[in-house]
Amino acid sequence: MNILFFSAQSYDKAYFNTANQDGHHHFRFLEYPLNEDNTVLIKDEQAVCVFVNDKVNAAVIRQLKEKGIRLIALRCAGFNNVDLKAAAAAGIKVVRVPAYSPHAVAEHAVALLLGLNRKIYKSYNRIRDGNFTLNGLEGFDLYGKTIGVIGTGNIGAVFCHIMLGFGCKVLAYDIHNNEDLIKAGVQYVAVGTILSSADVISLHCPLTAETKHLVNAHTIAEMKQGVTIINTSRGGLIDTKAVVEALKNGHIGALGIDVYEQEEQLFFQNFSGSIIQDDVLSRLTTFPNVLVTAHQGFFTKEALTQIAVITLQNISDFEKGGTLLNEVAL
Ligand code: NAI
Repeated sequence: MNILFFSAQSYDKAYFNTANQDGHHHFRFLEYPLNEDNTVLIKDEQAVCVFVNDKVNAAVIRQLKEKGIRLIALRCAGFNNVDLKAAAAAGIKVVRVPAYSPHAVAEHAVALLLGLNRKIYKSYNRIRDGNFTLNGLEGFDLYGKTIGVIGTGNIGAVFCHIMLGFGCKVLAYDIHNNEDLIKAGVQYVAVGTILSSADVISLHCPLTAETKHLVNAHTIAEMKQGVTIINTSRGGLIDTKAVVEALKNGHIGALGIDVYEQEEQLFFQNFSGSIIQDDVLSRLTTFPNVLVTAHQGFFTKEALTQIAVITLQNISDFEKGGTLLNEVAL
């Protein structure tokens, strides 16, 4: 099948070309994102392959239909950027990669937590500057602390297991309880209990109408003083302005984010020679207790290999007209 890739980076080309060594599919890679202006770039493709920040709204989907696109292949797990109703109405199928490596993202959440707690980013800079003092680097033992996990799907479950391994008490909230996690020692509780009793809250639920701004001024007010918040899921789960206020007054003790509400304007691009226009992100990066990474949770060799293999399998399944195992239906 002819496939047009949007938002393609050099690593996408490398991993997808490797996964397509038999040359069955034909690729064109574009660095541009998919949006209303860029559908004109579609030539003779039947599928588009998109990533987390491509805009696949109703207007774009109408244009995709006119261009003869029959399949939207997401090379990621999240699908909040796709208007599924519009896709269904246009008769365009949507597939995704539901679980390419939950370990990659869960381990990155742990990296953010440990990096923040033990101030690794500060130590790195201090030592390079010949400063071997410890003042200001104090952390806390994770052992025995209460970790609140919101969303215990593929990634949240791995995160829970890692935290149990650290000797933490793990409280979780999900709309579906996972029996294996309960057996392993996780306690499912109401969100309010997590807010009021967790020392660390890690977000692993998808961005939906219900979860948008899950972390907001009201929910922050219910959290423990000095709470650490980790978000590797989607930026929209957090009302960033409310979080900035809570960092300023000290209610939030530390924030580690791999995703940001307005990330599509910035992430995966190099602005090192420009002036960043996003004042909220710029403010966030001034806090000594905030660690921001640019959506790299998925970025491991294992995950990239799986993303390419499963995406091409999804496309081949569509070509054959069989059951679409990884279809995102309404
Ligand atoms: P998943 O679909 O396996 O798990 C999501 C869990 O959230 C499910 O158990 C579901 O029941 C639960 N959930 C749904 N609505 C909820 C609600 N209102 N409240 C509480 N829980 C709710 O998804 P997976 O693979 O674990 O991914 C989680 C999120 O991580 C994705 O939605 C995506 O946004 C993000 N992600 C981030 C990556 C990164 O590189 N930073 C890479 C991959 C995914």
